[in-house]
Amino acid sequence: MPPFAQLRAAFIGALNMDQIVRVPQLPRPGETVLGGDLLRAPGGKGSNQAVAAAGLGASVAMIGRVGRDAFGRELSRSLRSVGISTRWVRACERPTGTALIFVDQRGENAIAVSPGANEQLLPEDMPRRAIAATDVLVAALEVPLASIEEAFRVARAAGVRTVLNAAPAQALPGWMLELCDVVICNETELATLVGRVVPLGSEVEAARSLRGFAEQVMVVTLGERGALAVSHDAVVEQPPFAVRVVDTVGAGDAFVAGFVVGRWFDAGIGPALRWGCAAGGLATTRPGAQPSMPGLGQLEALLNSG
Ligand code: RIB
Repeated sequence: MPPFAQLRAAFIGALNMDQIVRVPQLPRPGETVLGGDLLRAPGGKGSNQAVAAAGLGASVAMIGRVGRDAFGRELSRSLRSVGISTRWVRACERPTGTALIFVDQRGENAIAVSPGANEQLLPEDMPRRAIAATDVLVAALEVPLASIEEAFRVARAAGVRTVLNAAPAQALPGWMLELCDVVICNETELATLVGRVVPLGSEVEAARSLRGFAEQVMVVTLGERGALAVSHDAVVEQPPFAVRVVDTVGAGDAFVAGFVVGRWFDAGIGPALRWGCAAGGLATTRPGAQPSMPGLGQLEALLNSG
């Protein structure tokens, strides 16, 4: 790996305490299924991405909200323990966000989130000076869109790169997409963004239809089919890495961090996609979201393996 200036990245998004149960199959409406022991672990898309980026060598600040409760203190402590600045993680009167997660035998999951304090992250909470002083600003959608908009406008004015992970699926106004240098979504989120079913194999065309300006890059993660990116002059595809899948929780978040840090290491979209797929793949090999985020050494080993 060539020497590089450390990437400074700020992440806006949710901090959740994940409550995870392994089940033989995901429960259907009205069904009760018996599962394994409860695993409680730090999660939330924004903070998962922050932890993954820190693990890959970036200097990271988190922007978010927790409650004045035990979960809130634990989540903040956990971020600090991996070197992430929590200066912009403020406490409020709502309970800390919680996610109830089922994981089946194939590692697939179903998640219900109680956003709680995450909904209290307001536009006026955005640390304008800190945002303007970073290299890249990354946001995911479990916090109010108005706050992301405010932060992205500040970033844009300061020449800071903006990356939006359009997760969980939510229709977005055109002006929001215009504020993003990179949009990362999965197949479900892509369909929501374009407002129609996207047949298998039509992802490039759908992603292309969303692109608003020449430099914008649309990235689509395709699960077992890897990922693709569409820019003004190229379509890049990356097959998945072969790993033994245990639990897919947080894999999308690891992809986002891998893509962002990989892009910094090497300006090309192809290498960034490789980093994203490698990080996402590795995150599926262990249970939980933040406990499963790979380190740089592990990622480099996978990248060099094939
Ligand atoms: O992307 C996985 C995350 O989604 C979980 O950690 C959970 O908290 C939900 O936000």
